[in-house]
Amino acid sequence: MTSTATSSGLIGDAVRERFPILGRRGFPVYLDNAATTQKPREVLDSLVGYYETVNSNVGRGYYGLAMASTEQYEQAREVVRRFLGAEEADEIVFTASTTAATNLLADTLGRATVGPGDQVVVTGLEHNSNLLPWRRLCDDTGAELVVAPVGADGRVEPSAFAAVLGPRVRIVAIGHVSNVLGTVNPVRELAALAHRHGARVVVDGAQAVAHRPVDVRELGADFYTFSAHKVYGPMGTGVLYGRRELLEQLGPYQVGGGTVKGVRHDSPVQYVPVPARLEAGTPNVAGAAGLAAALEFVAGLGWDSVRAHDEALVGQAVAELAAIPGVRIVGDPGAEPSGIVSLAVDGIHPYDVGGHLDRRGIAVRCGVHCASTLLDDLGLLGTVRLSFAVYTTEAELDAVRRALAEVEPGEWTASHPDTRFL
Ligand SMILES: Cc1ncc(COP(=O)(O)O)c(C=O)c1O
Repeated sequence: MTSTATSSGLIGDAVRERFPILGRRGFPVYLDNAATTQKPREVLDSLVGYYETVNSNVGRGYYGLAMASTEQYEQAREVVRRFLGAEEADEIVFTASTTAATNLLADTLGRATVGPGDQVVVTGLEHNSNLLPWRRLCDDTGAELVVAPVGADGRVEPSAFAAVLGPRVRIVAIGHVSNVLGTVNPVRELAALAHRHGARVVVDGAQAVAHRPVDVRELGADFYTFSAHKVYGPMGTGVLYGRRELLEQLGPYQVGGGTVKGVRHDSPVQYVPVPARLEAGTPNVAGAAGLAAALEFVAGLGWDSVRAHDEALVGQAVAELAAIPGVRIVGDPGAEPSGIVSLAVDGIHPYDVGGHLDRRGIAVRCGVHCASTLLDDLGLLGTVRLSFAVYTTEAELDAVRRALAEVEPGEWTASHPDTRFL
């Protein structure tokens, strides 16, 4: 696919035709892409196509159809490998989501690595999915959870990160892009610092993969997680990348079909190698095929086009929305645009802003975005988050600007002025 960039840098309206849902009557101006992206025709076709033509269980049947299904599943693994710059396809484990991948890591890597008195380091901008699995690990094992502070620009500065690292750190878990602020952590620098202490580096890429090229080796990530649905793929499929020799030390996690070489009642269980050892039960093969189609869709657009598009939209949003009296942009989303702009409106509850926009046909997320700890640190009740995708247009941003200029305090501001939700 060739990109259809306009003079403003935006990818242009042509790409919208590839997304059937966008053409539905009454479909809102959809600016909640950080929660989930819409799916292009290629992805929808691959899901239906799988069930219409190849559906059969993988890694089990010794007949042509089952082998074709297994081949499609393994081809999807190879597409993910290329997308992440991993060395081998077997370093890619399919999971249900970023959340599932992180829980897998906390329960395998975590329990094998961390004991009383050890430390796990997270950053102050983590989504609950990259916070709670580590917090529970620490609660259960007697380890200490250390939080690296977020700087005024919404990133974790390497010097501040270095200051919290010490000889007891075993694992560091770093968000690549903040789902609240759209800021990008300097993962390469942070990973190098963590490695000096021998720690394992886990990177949550949920908000990165739709906006920037990822090279796990270049980043120095030992593990990298993401969800298909945040990058134009289907819900219910996620990815855990792990550096081969580290992945091999994991598991089993959940056990069941597909994880064993053979089982006898009178001898120890023999598990198969990774990644199958970490994929117990029937996997979501259609989901993997849909993810592969989504990653090929993004690759077809080209990262230069995606970057220029994000820069144009974020630049326009920051400039125009900050000019509206009472509107404040939170953090510095323009520094390395990643498709997210969070804002607060003075004296108006974020839910009132969200409701006002919804009544004007604009869908945004408002509240704490599953990251209440970051909102606490920012001293905010919540934000109104605009999150963009390759199909977002200037006209849609104009609609937001017009609507925000008219927002007034409402029900939430009057009855729950200090109450935080979601
Ligand atoms: C940064 C970040 N990490 C993790 C997640 C969890 O993703 P999922 O719900 O697909 O597991 C999200 C979802 O919003 C996110 O933004």
